[in-house]
This record gives sequence, C-alpha cells and structure tokens, in this order.
Amino acid sequence: KTIYLKDYKPAEFIVDRVDLTFDIKDNQTKVTSILNIHKNFDIADKNTSLVFDKGDFEISSVIANGMLLLPEEYESGGGYFKLARTPDIFDLEIISILKPEENTSLEGLYKSGDIFCTQCEAQGFRKITPFPDRPDIMAVYSCTIIADKTQYPVLLSNGNLVDSGDLDNNRHFVRWEDPFKKPSYLFALVAGDLEHIHDQFTTKSGRNVDLKIYSERENIDKCYHAMKSLKQAMEWDEKRFGLEYDLDLYQIVAINDFNAGAMENKGLNIFNSKYVLANPETATDEDFLNIQGVIGHEYFHNWTGNRVTLKNWFQLSLKEGLTVFRDQEFSSDLNSRGVKRISCVRNLRGSQFPEDAGPMTHPVRPDSYIKMDNFYTMTVYEKGSELIRMIHQLIGEKKFRKAIDLYFEKFDGMAVTIEDFIGVMEEAGGLDLNQFKLWYFQSGTPTVKVERSYNPDLKQLAITFEQHIAPDRNQSKKKPLHIPVKFAIIDNKGNDITPESKSLLELTSGRQTFVFGNIPENSLPSLFRQFSAPVKIKTDFTNEELAFLMANDPDEFNRWDAAQTLFVNELKRIITAIQADKELSVSPNLIKAFKKALLNQHTDHAFLAKALSLPMETEIKNHFDLVDVHAIHRGRLFLKQQIAKQLKQHFMDLIDYCSKSDPLSLSHGAMADRSLKNLSLSYLGCLKETDTTQLVLRHYATAKNMTDEIAAFKILSEIHPDIKQTAVKNFYSKWQHDKLVLDKWFAVQAGSSLPNTLNIVKSLIKHPDFSIKNPNKVRSLIYMFAMQNHINFHQKNGDGYRFIADQIIALDKINHQIAARLSSCFNQMKRYDNARKIIIKKELERILCVPTLSKNVYEIVSRALE
Ligand code: ARG
Ligand code: ZN
Repeated sequence: KTIYLKDYKPAEFIVDRVDLTFDIKDNQTKVTSILNIHKNFDIADKNTSLVFDKGDFEISSVIANGMLLLPEEYESGGGYFKLARTPDIFDLEIISILKPEENTSLEGLYKSGDIFCTQCEAQGFRKITPFPDRPDIMAVYSCTIIADKTQYPVLLSNGNLVDSGDLDNNRHFVRWEDPFKKPSYLFALVAGDLEHIHDQFTTKSGRNVDLKIYSERENIDKCYHAMKSLKQAMEWDEKRFGLEYDLDLYQIVAINDFNAGAMENKGLNIFNSKYVLANPETATDEDFLNIQGVIGHEYFHNWTGNRVTLKNWFQLSLKEGLTVFRDQEFSSDLNSRGVKRISCVRNLRGSQFPEDAGPMTHPVRPDSYIKMDNFYTMTVYEKGSELIRMIHQLIGEKKFRKAIDLYFEKFDGMAVTIEDFIGVMEEAGGLDLNQFKLWYFQSGTPTVKVERSYNPDLKQLAITFEQHIAPDRNQSKKKPLHIPVKFAIIDNKGNDITPESKSLLELTSGRQTFVFGNIPENSLPSLFRQFSAPVKIKTDFTNEELAFLMANDPDEFNRWDAAQTLFVNELKRIITAIQADKELSVSPNLIKAFKKALLNQHTDHAFLAKALSLPMETEIKNHFDLVDVHAIHRGRLFLKQQIAKQLKQHFMDLIDYCSKSDPLSLSHGAMADRSLKNLSLSYLGCLKETDTTQLVLRHYATAKNMTDEIAAFKILSEIHPDIKQTAVKNFYSKWQHDKLVLDKWFAVQAGSSLPNTLNIVKSLIKHPDFSIKNPNKVRSLIYMFAMQNHINFHQKNGDGYRFIADQIIALDKINHQIAARLSSCFNQMKRYDNARKIIIKKELERILCVPTLSKNVYEIVSRALE
C-alpha cells in the first residue's frame, strides 16, 4: 500500500503522443484515447507486459495497431489496465465511458454546476483514461471536444485552438493542440456556458499573448483584478527571472467546486473561484492580495513545474517550494516586503511547525506515501520555500539568478529531481550545499537556543548558538543543519554597530560561539533577521530588551517578532496565574510598549496592525507542552480587554484617523488604514460595553466594503448571542445571492467563541445554502470550526470531537481528499490532557472501523493513532 522513493524505476512503456477525443453527452462522456507507445528497452524486455493506471470506469473497446482486442485479451480492474503482450512500438486506442455527473471526488473529469472541468494533479488523469499516470512520462497532447452547442458553447483545453466547427444535432467540436511535451497531471479540459474577459500582453521578445479569464456570466465583472494580477505576474517574471510566456494564449477558468486553490495546467489554469472573483463590495483586502498571489503562483509554474517538471511525486517541493518562493517574492516586490514576510512566518509557525511536530511529520522531500494527495502540505510548500529562501540568502540574488538560468539551460523539457536543483545551485553559486541538503531529507523543526555573555573589561560580546532537532518517526538521530543567521548588533540608541562582514553567521555544528570585540555595554544582537531560517528561536532577552527591540530594531520583521514574544511571555504569565487561581494583572511595561508603538506617527499602519495583533488561541497553544484550553481562552481575552480598557481613547482616535482613507481604494495606504482601524475596533469590541458595542454596530451598518463589513461582523459575533444573531440575519439577507460571500457568513458563525456555537454549526450543516459536496463550504463551516475554533472544538465533553468525526465519515463517502484534510485536525492530540486524548482516540478508532474508508483518511488517521 505504501509507495517508497527507493522503489522508483523508470517506466517500461513510454507514451510519446496522446490524442484525446471527448464526446460529451448527458450522463455519459465517451473518451477516445489514441496513444503512440514505445517500449523502454533500458528496463523492459520482449516479455514485459504493459500495465497502466486506471480508475473505476468501463472500457468499451481496445484497438492495438489497428486490431480490435477481445475483452479476454486485456485485463481491466483493481486500478489497472493490462496487456500481456505488445509490440515494441505501437498505437493503442482505448474507448472509455465516464460519468462525470456522478464524480463527487472532484478529480479526473467532473461537473461543477453546469460546467465540465478536470483536475488531474496528482493522479487524476487515470480517472479519464488508462495511462502511465506519472510525471516522468512527457508527451505531446491534442484534444478534441464535442458537445451540445447551446449548453456548452465554450470548449477549452491546453495549448492552441487549431480547428472548430458545427456538427449535426446542434452539436459542435473544437480541437486543441499543445506543442509542449507535458506530464499527464497538466492536462485540462473545460466545457460550459462561460463568459470571458479578454486582454493582451506583449512579451519582451515581442510575442502577443491573448489573455482570457472565464467565469459564470453573473460573475464576469469580478474578474478584472485577476486579469490585472496576471499581467503583473507576466511582467514581473520577465524582469526578475528573465522568464517569458511561451504560447499565444493564456486562459484561466473560475470554478466553484474545487479541491485546491488552483491548478497550473499548461495554458489553461483552472482556479477555485475564491482566487479569481473580487470586487471591493464582496472581497476583503486579504482576498485581493491572495488572488494576486495565487494568480502569480500558477503563472510562475509555467516554468517552475511545467517546462521543468518532476521525475516522481516525491520531488513535489521541487516545483511547489520554488514556486511558492517565487510568488512570495512577487507579492513582496509589488506590496510591502516586511508585511508579507510577517504573514508568511506567522503561517509557517502557526501551521507548518505543528505539522512537523505531529504524526504527519515528513521531510520536504518525503520518502514514502500512501496517497500522494496527503503530501500537498505546509511542509512541502511553505517549508520548501523557506529552503529556497535560505539558498537565496547564502548565495545572493545575483548568483541565484545565474543558477536559475542554468537550471533551465540544463533541464528544460525534462522531469528532474531536487538533487538536480541543488546541483545547479552549487555550480552557479560556488557553494558546497552538502550539509545544507539535509534540510530536504530530515524532518522536524530545529530549535536554536541563543545565549549571550558580555565581558565589560574586554568589551567583548560572545553569542553561543545551540541547535537541536528532536528525533521522530523518520529519523531517530538528527544531524546538525547548515543554518544561516542574518545578524546585526545594535547599540543602546538603536544604531547598527555590526562588525564588518559579520551580517550573515552560518551555523554548521551542534554548538557554536561567535565572539565580537569592541562592543559597548547594553548593545543587543538582532538575530535571524527577516526570519533567515525556519527554526524555533529561543533567546535570553528580558522583557525590557524585547520592548527595546520592538521599538528600535531596524529590521521590521524583528520588531514584529519582539512584540509577539512580549505578548507570548505576558500570556504565559497570565495563563499560569489563571491555573493557580491567582489574581490577574497585566504588566505596565507591556502597556507602555504597546502605547508607544500605537502613538508612533511614522509607522506603516499595515505593519502596526500586525505588530499589535495578539496571537490567536491556536497559535498560543503552540507555546505549551500541555494545552489548557480554557485558561488560554480566558487569558487571551483578559489581556485583550486590559489593553483595550487602558488605551480606549487612543483606539477611538485611531479609528477616526484611519477612517479618512477612501473605502474603495486598494492602495497600500488605504488597506493599511483599514487593517489598523479594524484591529482597534476589535480591541474596543471585546470590552462589550454599551458604547463600544454601539460603535461596532455603527461601523457594521455603515461599512462600504467587505473588509470593513466582515471585520465588524466578526467582532459582533463575539459579543453576545443576540447581537450575533441579528448580524447573522442581516448579513444573510444582504448577501444570500453571492456564494463566496456566504462562505464568509458560514465561517464567521463557525469561528465564534460564544458557547452555543457547536449547535449552530450542526444546524448550519442543514442550511439550504450549505453543501457538503462543495469544498469551499466544507472549509468555511466544518474545517473552520475544527481548526480555528479552539475553545469550542476542544470542549471538554468531547461533543466537538464526535461531531467532526461524524463529518469525516460522511465526507469520506463523497470526497476522499477533503475528508483527509479535515482528519488532520486531530493531529495535535498529544498536546491535550488525558480525558480529551481518550475521547479523540475513541473517535479516531471509530473512523478506522468504517469498512469503506478511503486510503486518504486511513493514512492520516492511522498515523495520528501511532
Ligand atoms: N499544483 C497545484 C498548485 O500548487 C495544487 C494541486 C493540488 N492537488 C492536490 N492533489 N492537492 O498550484
Ligand atoms: Zn503550486
């Protein structure tokens, strides 16, 4: 059942050409696949039989080299299609009958509303036709689509449109040819009654590219931001990486039912509509930025993923880590670099670190999997991109660019490995990455402990770094990693006094000491600037020193990080006091530091909003070995209310000040003002006093964009059940026609920390606008509750656990991938008390007993129980 990297073998049969015809009719789609095949004599011999991957569908005929085969001349079933004997070179024609209308897995060919579409990554192509469904089989594809002209006027596939015409019975056909060789996971087809917007981009070498974005007719006016983002991405990739688009047409289609965020199919990206559709009335500032990032991500895959692809799925991070790095750089170059970095690190610490410390821990390049879909993880994507970022840091932008050039020079059109990538980085970077490589093969987050000692007589500052990675299921002994520490020393006025050429320290052994001379007393090191390595940093700074760094470190990321560490220290103190039943207080120094930051006129408001946000309960829990659910909830609320109470007037003033910017502008300044205003509003709202509640209600009622509207709605949903219910009704009556806005409506309700939330979620499952078949709805309601609503999911009586287990079981009958994602909410169980652990264990065992359980859910749940 488990697939191992060590068992990788090249394919025995190679497919050079694929010609597909889809004949789409109600309740049945006939797929004719004609393959040009040759035997790979490097590995096969005369007697080797052909075995292709095959999903669960009916084959209606097989023709090999023009000869019709009898059903007893081939085997079909159990996931395979087999021909005992074949010529060395031959054409194979297979006709399959699919039922896309019944395909709720949303992989292979399926229907989303009235639109036919495909999702083939990782292993969905085998659900369309028998095929060697692996990324190292690269072939040239053509695709003919035949369908009813009224119901399906738009018929799309990869590459260029080469022919089209009318047929009898109101039917028509379109033929597409993709000149580039590609693996099967990049194949795509769309058929439907779609509207589109059109634009153009001229590449720097003069190619005129038509850009088309398709959506359902009613949403077409929400596609312009995506189009703008696409053009920004094309321009940026030329400037920063010298990479141009390579076809005359680039198409994007927005689909409502989609398992992932989007898919980079050659020349025909298919997107979750959440990452395409936006206008200020219906989408938040965060949505706008996410769309820009995801449009960029899929566009950048055209080179990092499509032109150079993967030898096998274990190499997934070769394309994903690199492409995430590229999309992060894109967003950083176009918006605020510091603010983007803070969001990425928060995401990494909040989700990847826990993943790497839990049962699903795996190296960035995994060694094995049961279902590949379970390895589209934070580790492969986000940690993977951190590894690229470290290499970039170590060799510098110029050499990195040279290395990327070399990567395409050597590997264009090929399916390669992470080692191949590291090879070009070493060659062009002039650097030995032998130890660095371990980052790809060892799992777990290193902890780096930093200790200072100062010798006033010698004016010497010594800094000792100790790195440690706990053993786990993948390696019982971990080797020390090569860790870059971006570094500076600042004196007690905040001036940079870093000794020359010491701004990048490189850790390579378990324990290392660096000594710096000529350092005045009370200077402070600024460590891991911009978060230069994905490690847990344990420093010995006092709260006074942290407050100084929060105000004075020239590195924006470190100012934010110092603020967060201050908060965490304070929260830990408060939570301990709650557990000991002592009187609670907030340290005046924390309030002072907070106030100072709040009143600093010169700070970017977007940064300030990030710096002054308290960590969420799901983040706070990561700082405890044993999680006390209630104490964390109470402690956080107490701290928030104390800050709000003591700085009430300042928050009021800021809200007025920030309300002046244009509510419909998407400039950085306007978005920054909104984020600070809404943060201030959330501090005030948590006081639950008459005047503050009135203020939030007023902001809710007068909001002119979704950012403000949803922010106020969220705050109201925490104040009181009646206030929440009124807002819930009002919001619904205003937005019931808009699917994506309703996702937010579900999410706010599922995220509320008010008591009765579980019952409300249970009743929302039956709401006519909810559908368990739509992944966005499942994520908004069920996943939101399980992953973000710490206090209610982990309620002591176990009702939250039982409910989610029921949902996993129900969902697994419909969509294995989404059910498996949801199952991962139990991966943190070891951090909770015994009573909770026992209930979780029982629920996981109940899931494992389901006779029809998917491999996807099995893999996650069995690991959680290990
Ligand atoms: N390659 C896509 C992207 O990163 C995601 C595909 C997700 N597939 C999956 N089986 N989870 O843009
Ligand atoms: Zn990707």
